[in-house]
Amino acid sequence: MKSKNQEIIDVFNYRYACKKFDKNRKVSDEDFNTIMESARLSPSSFGLEPWKFLLLKNEKMKEDFKEFAWGAINSINGASHIVIVLARKGVTADSKHMEHMLEDVKKVPEEMKAVIKEKFGGFQEKHFKLLESERSLFDWASKQTYIVLGNMMTTAAYLGIDSCAIEGFEREAAEKYLSDRGILDLNEYGLSYMVSFGYRDEEQPVKTRQNLSEVFEIIE
Ligand SMILES: Cc1cc2nc3c(=O)[nH]c(=O)nc-3n(C[C@H](O)[C@H](O)[C@H](O)COP(=O)(O)O)c2cc1C
Repeated sequence: MKSKNQEIIDVFNYRYACKKFDKNRKVSDEDFNTIMESARLSPSSFGLEPWKFLLLKNEKMKEDFKEFAWGAINSINGASHIVIVLARKGVTADSKHMEHMLEDVKKVPEEMKAVIKEKFGGFQEKHFKLLESERSLFDWASKQTYIVLGNMMTTAAYLGIDSCAIEGFEREAAEKYLSDRGILDLNEYGLSYMVSFGYRDEEQPVKTRQNLSEVFEIIE
């Protein structure tokens, strides 16, 4: 029997950026729900979950996306599921989202709320300097969504499902397209990335990576 360690390494070697999907194979609801559950359960800075996920099912919209999402064309041409990942804008200590997370989701006692808000405010303002621009605040939220990306793709690979992360799109054009159709409120969210899931219809390329010794150093 395979060790757990080997099983994990095998999953990471199985995942690659799929360029050609089998049009005829669909990811089951059960498997897709598991991928989405791995997204939902992902960690985030201060546990603020500054994200939202859109499953792009509309075929006409998928075709339209090809115009400004060059990195998604291979996926649109055969992947079973395409997910658009949004990152929340304006998540500050005094934002509505912060209040929602503390009050409704985490059910933090009233006296603790002010303590957490103060800590988060200091972190944003002084330690990470996230309040310098709307962009730096958005990029912080966007970083959190990439934790989700890793989890979704690894979960998919564990289930024998292929995937492709997609940053290959003109962000403004894609955001405008979704906003014009009332799908995206640009005051609330921006587009972080897309990710597709399905089944490969090609040979997996040989994996190339730097050696661990090049990227890993021990501080004694
Ligand atoms: C955030 C991110 C964005 C990516 N964007 C695209 C993309 O738009 N189109 C594409 O075909 N591949 C995309 N890739 C795939 C990478 O090129 C690929 O992961 C990398 O070359 C390593 O190869 P591997 O994933 O096959 O091991 C993206 C990967 C990441 C992590």
